Amino acid sequence: MTRIVVLNGPNLGRLGSRDPEVYGHATLSDIHATLDAQCPAGVSCEVRQTDSEAELISWLHEAIDTGSPVILNPAAFTHYSYALRDAAEMVTQAGLPLIEIHLSNPHQRESFRRQSVISAVATGVIAGFGADSYILALQQITRMAGN
Ligand code: DQA
Repeated sequence: MTRIVVLNGPNLGRLGSRDPEVYGHATLSDIHATLDAQCPAGVSCEVRQTDSEAELISWLHEAIDTGSPVILNPAAFTHYSYALRDAAEMVTQAGLPLIEIHLSNPHQRESFRRQSVISAVATGVIAGFGADSYILALQQITRMAGN
């Protein structure tokens, strides 16, 4: 069984009511249900969200220790968290895929969102497709994991 961890940073627990013109109407549990429905046989998706940088970093450490591929929406940490960047780098250095995702396309938004400190250490980046960014990442990461 391949276990994929889908990690979400700050404020993503408010999806559904948070700025729906930008982030859509789906809640994180809606997204979790869709991921579960699309998961190929032999793959499980564990979706987690935290507003805490320390907790998000500890989940990346855990992914390394359990050999779990990672789908990561770092939310606002994307733009400035060098600590998260270093943890993400350890994931890819351990030979595990880490796909950075965003619901919105940060490049179409405020200038501070155009910088990602994570992208350079991610395996790849998917952004701008709303909740489908998660599905596209799942498809790619399961392909990479050989499922
Ligand atoms: C986001 C984009 C970030 O700039 C923002 O801070 C978020 C969500 C996205 O999914 O589009 O919280 O990561």
